[in-house]
Amino acid sequence: MPAPRPVVSGLPAPTPDEAAHGARLCAHLRECIARETPLASEPEATIGFADFMHEALYAPGLGYYAAGATKLGAAGDFVTAPELSPLFAATLTDAFAPIMDEGVLELGAGSGRLARDAIAAAPSLDGRWRVLEVSADLRERQRGALEGAGVVWLDALPERLRGLVLGNEVLDAIACEIVRHHDGRYEQARVAVAEAGFAWRWRPLTDDGPLLAAAQVRMPPIAGYQSEINLRAEALVATLAERLDDGALCFIDYGFPRREYYHPERGAGTLACHYRQRVHFDPLQRVGLQDITAHVDFTAIAEAAVDAGLQVICYATQAQFLLHAGLLGRLERQTFASERERALAIGAVQKLLSPAEMGELFKVLVVGRGEAVAKLGALSAFDQSYRL
Ligand SMILES: C[S@@+](CC[C@H](N)C(=O)[O-])C[C@H]1O[C@@H](n2cnc3c(N)ncnc32)[C@H](O)[C@@H]1O
Repeated sequence: MPAPRPVVSGLPAPTPDEAAHGARLCAHLRECIARETPLASEPEATIGFADFMHEALYAPGLGYYAAGATKLGAAGDFVTAPELSPLFAATLTDAFAPIMDEGVLELGAGSGRLARDAIAAAPSLDGRWRVLEVSADLRERQRGALEGAGVVWLDALPERLRGLVLGNEVLDAIACEIVRHHDGRYEQARVAVAEAGFAWRWRPLTDDGPLLAAAQVRMPPIAGYQSEINLRAEALVATLAERLDDGALCFIDYGFPRREYYHPERGAGTLACHYRQRVHFDPLQRVGLQDITAHVDFTAIAEAAVDAGLQVICYATQAQFLLHAGLLGRLERQTFASERERALAIGAVQKLLSPAEMGELFKVLVVGRGEAVAKLGALSAFDQSYRL
């Protein structure tokens, strides 16, 4: 692993079924690598890290998100905001009520909780909620969880978009590249087959491609500095933005503005792996059994949208966004069957808001075009896009 960050020791051992599944995915990845033609200057075939990460997460029937394991929630590997509290979805429906008549397109719907709770909170969304999900396995789970809720699954991104496009913890799950500054130049992380699994290789970025251009602009030229660049997430946002006629894109995720993301002191990047509620930093281990994720460079995401003609409506921490959008009012109005239920609901809200949990690290970026910008004017009251 290139990052000089400690790897958590004592990860739980995979079950025999998990180990067999991991072995199948590793065989698939070895085939992917073998198909690559090595450069004349290199002794072996390699693939770029983004290709490796994409296959590890999404190879049909094999990748982490594409095979049967329980990923989200307390029984899985990590917990997302919609899994914590139905008030998260309900508060989003309040914030975006002025444009939701035009419909919602949710990207990467996970277990389907956000859609289910949003439609329960705002029944007019029944029949207006669409999902675009890359994982066939998750799509089937979502269909089960959302039966009768009037949700429609799309096979591809529509040519034109209106209303709200929403992605909670989606951009962080899109495959990124790892780049480092070494020997006075930028190098890209690649993955080769090794005797015991996979090994890192580094290739200088010598062409005039977008990865080198991004590294030169974003990453400090400090010897040994390493970080991630997610051109695929930026390309997705650019496509969404180009196709948006009137409406807004909302991305909620952990991340920072560029200045903080590529801060000289964050020299080991943000890439992390989640396995049974533990975090470690070696994506070449537990391949296929764990989530691999990197924080979001929100400046890059905002730039991709603005370059395609959108306006930034609001950039805020999750806590600021949810508080201004009325989360606490929603909590106060909720009725509970018992004191225990009330205490659990308050605890979940605290996790969403607390600076020590999701409140500060998670950000909300809303960008839009057309009449939607004015309709969502209330969100600009707490906009902090000057931080981007
Ligand atoms: C970390 S999970 C988050 C799930 C859910 N939004 C939540 O908050 O619980 C990431 C989700 O994004 C999906 N995903 C990743 N890349 C995607 C893409 N390009 N388009 C649509 N969905 C995508 C994954 O399959 C998965 O459902």
